[in-house]
Amino acid sequence: MLNVTVLVSGGGTNLQAILDAIEEGKIRNARVGAVISNNPGAYALERARKHGIPAVCISPRQYESRDAFHEALLAAVEESQADLVVLAGCLVVIPECMIRTYRGRMINIHPSLIPAFCGTGFYGLKVHEEALKRGVKVTGATVHFVDEGTDTGPILLQKAVEVQKGDTPEILQRRVMEQAEWVILPQAIDMIANGECEGLA
Ligand code: GRF
Repeated sequence: MLNVTVLVSGGGTNLQAILDAIEEGKIRNARVGAVISNNPGAYALERARKHGIPAVCISPRQYESRDAFHEALLAAVEESQADLVVLAGCLVVIPECMIRTYRGRMINIHPSLIPAFCGTGFYGLKVHEEALKRGVKVTGATVHFVDEGTDTGPILLQKAVEVQKGDTPEILQRRVMEQAEWVILPQAIDMIANGECEGLA
């Protein structure tokens, strides 16, 4: 049984999609053992607790330095005995020590078809604003392994979503979540948990 630790920062709809997929049997042989948020107000923490999953907040504000925060974050993830770390709307820049420790065992969901609209500064609504500004007709989401770069790690899954006339960044963000993120993130976890992809040693 793959023990999954989910790192979040906000609403946690991707976390919810994972929990639902486990309940529905769409993710086999995996459980969410812990949820960690950098933001004490994240609704994702509430979602975890409703499912009886230990949920903790490790906020940079609780620590004197960035290094101390990074150490605490890594310690919390290690304590959770994660086989797989899932960044589900996690806005923390992951420290290098953690990237090294969890190489090939940490995945991220990004709301575009990488390499479009990704990298530093492309997060949240900004991604969809830029996609609309550029006038692309198709966008989507990507699940990738995390490496030292921003959105540069090996791609695991992608799913395309059509841009429609009259889309606002908010409307497009919602469609990308519903049609792509909530589908491919659970699917990626299921693949990893069942040895259907490379990456996990
Ligand atoms: C999603 O669009 C995700 O791709 C991005 O941030 C959003 C998080 O949403 N990184 P949620 O917290 O899972 O609801």
